[in-house]
Amino acid sequence: MKYALVTGACINTGVDIVKKFLSEGYGVVFTGRKQEAVEQAELAYRKDFPQSEVYGYAIDSLIDERTVDEAAVDALFAWLDEKGIFAETLVLNAADQGLNQELFKNPLTDFMKVINTNVTWNFCLSEHAAARMRQQGGGNIVFVNSNTAYRAIPNRVAYVSSKGGQLGLMRALAMDLGQYNIRVNAVLPGMIKTDRWEKNPEFYASVPSRFTPIGDVAVGADIADYVFYFAAHARNTTGAELTVDGGNTIQLYPIIK
Ligand SMILES: NC(=O)c1ccc[n+]([C@@H]2O[C@H](COP(=O)([O-])OP(=O)(O)OC[C@H]3O[C@@H](n4cnc5c(N)ncnc54)[C@H](OP(=O)(O)O)[C@@H]3O)[C@@H](O)[C@H]2O)c1
Repeated sequence: MKYALVTGACINTGVDIVKKFLSEGYGVVFTGRKQEAVEQAELAYRKDFPQSEVYGYAIDSLIDERTVDEAAVDALFAWLDEKGIFAETLVLNAADQGLNQELFKNPLTDFMKVINTNVTWNFCLSEHAAARMRQQGGGNIVFVNSNTAYRAIPNRVAYVSSKGGQLGLMRALAMDLGQYNIRVNAVLPGMIKTDRWEKNPEFYASVPSRFTPIGDVAVGADIADYVFYFAAHARNTTGAELTVDGGNTIQLYPIIK
């Protein structure tokens, strides 16, 4: 059985990514930070996909703001090795959203925390996964990035920087890992209808129609489809970006009717 390892998949977009891989017959190992949430999510996946192999694993990216928990990544991959699970696909979905970081107000460690999770931790996971993929003759890595890698949004300086950095990391890994038959690509969502949107109905009512040419934004399943495309179908594609944002990035000004 083919396996995908999906980070940050107890809630929102990660859940749809896990469901897509399970519905395509993959086994899935997913992560979240809290043991209890991971156990609940695992039960929910098993209920929806009773024939599937699905395992949750609790892991946090950082020991503190300045330090990536490399030992925890070692332990995750040792656990997978012990279970005889080879993750042919790594989906780097988890992200520190870096909300409410105002310039001149937040301490430097707030910035570091976001960069360390979204870039450094993902590098560490990629290196561990790619070492196994190299041994097994190939594999692939998919970043769930963001169109904020190209277009900035207010009060998110660390997040925007981290998503730009992720694309550099994606390309550098694609360069170095191609020789081992390991492909590395990125999906760039714009706005996704997560629970944050549902808690903010006014924003939801006005933003898609004004800020996307097609008048709608993505649901998690849209992102999952493109992640799966890179993982399973894009045999000759590496170092590539696919924007899934309803055209948000190419629109110059809001539509006012
Ligand atoms: N939502 C959007 O509109 C949007 C737009 C563009 C791009 N994206 C990107 O799409 C991806 C999914 O977005 P989303 O909105 O579904 O994400 P989300 O709801 O914020 O969930 C993020 C996941 O990342 C995990 N996570 C956060 N900090 C972590 C840390 N320090 N260590 C380990 N795991 C951590 C969370 O774990 P816990 O469950 O333990 O909290 C959670 O499962 C992200 O990469 C995001 O940047 C989202």
